[in-house]
Amino acid sequence: MGTASYDFTDDVVLITGASRGLGRDFALSFARAGAKVAVNDLGDQSFGDEVPYETGTASDLDETLAELTELGADAIAVSADVSDEAQVEAMIAAVLERFGRLDVLVNNAGVHSNAKSWEMTEAQWDRVIDVDLKGPFLCGKHAARHMVERGGPGRIITISSSSGLVGIPDQVGYQSAKHGVVGQVKTLALELAPYNVTVNAICPTVVTSPMLDHLVETGKAYFQEVGRLCGASTVFPGLENLEPVDVSHAVQWLASDAARYVTGIALPVDGGFTCK
Ligand SMILES: NC(=O)c1ccc[n+]([C@@H]2O[C@H](COP(=O)([O-])OP(=O)(O)OC[C@H]3O[C@@H](n4cnc5c(N)ncnc54)[C@H](O)[C@@H]3O)[C@@H](O)[C@H]2O)c1
Repeated sequence: MGTASYDFTDDVVLITGASRGLGRDFALSFARAGAKVAVNDLGDQSFGDEVPYETGTASDLDETLAELTELGADAIAVSADVSDEAQVEAMIAAVLERFGRLDVLVNNAGVHSNAKSWEMTEAQWDRVIDVDLKGPFLCGKHAARHMVERGGPGRIITISSSSGLVGIPDQVGYQSAKHGVVGQVKTLALELAPYNVTVNAICPTVVTSPMLDHLVETGKAYFQEVGRLCGASTVFPGLENLEPVDVSHAVQWLASDAARYVTGIALPVDGGFTCK
């Protein structure tokens, strides 16, 4: 089969939650395609028990920036909590100050916690909704303000999940947030179409990443059960080997001119996981 390659020379791309995992892969892929890249993560900030695994650290973010620099990319790292409006505003301002524009926002930052609905604490619920639903809203709001003022073009891409398309037990907060961003992108897509800004979501199934490592450790049986319920093993051979690069291809396509009339969609990258 053919391979796609894109040219983002001089485009400015901001990727949230990019110190590791999918976000780091997106950043490196954009850098290889010539983009100027801003990577965000929490830096020195972290959450308590509401997120039951370690989030990306300041040194992870430094490592990503070093890898981008090694590739020869013009890149910066901006620490900010995407669920805090003042920090989001400062992050967008830092990108504009450094590069003078923002062409592509990838809302990738996310957290996960799994518990039965009747056992999930209010703090766990609030954290996942704040990061996974409010975060893309706040980043989209401040990126859109700039893109509208500039009269476009622009791209906003939010990483939802299979969890944004179907119900999966034991993750009511995550499901609610990931479904929520699908509605969010449809609304933004309508508001921003007149300004030549597209807004889309991508819905990957299980992808190798630090977040997944945590889930596999704490919920192997749970994943097997979800796979059985969704018929995943009967859908696509090798689905368990989905890698960040498989999602990067979808991100780059939506960011490119090839997808200039594609807006308001929730694109599954899941080997048919959510077909049934
Ligand atoms: N890995 C999967 O199986 C999978 C599947 C579908 C969707 N997703 C989504 O893809 C995205 C990336 O996930 P990943 O698997 O690479 O996870 P990850 O935990 O490795 O990466 C997420 C990053 O987001 C950062 N982050 C968390 N809260 C933040 C905040 N408030 N502000 C800024 N950064 C913050 C974390 O520090 C971390 O570095 C998430 O939105 C996730 O929900 C992942």
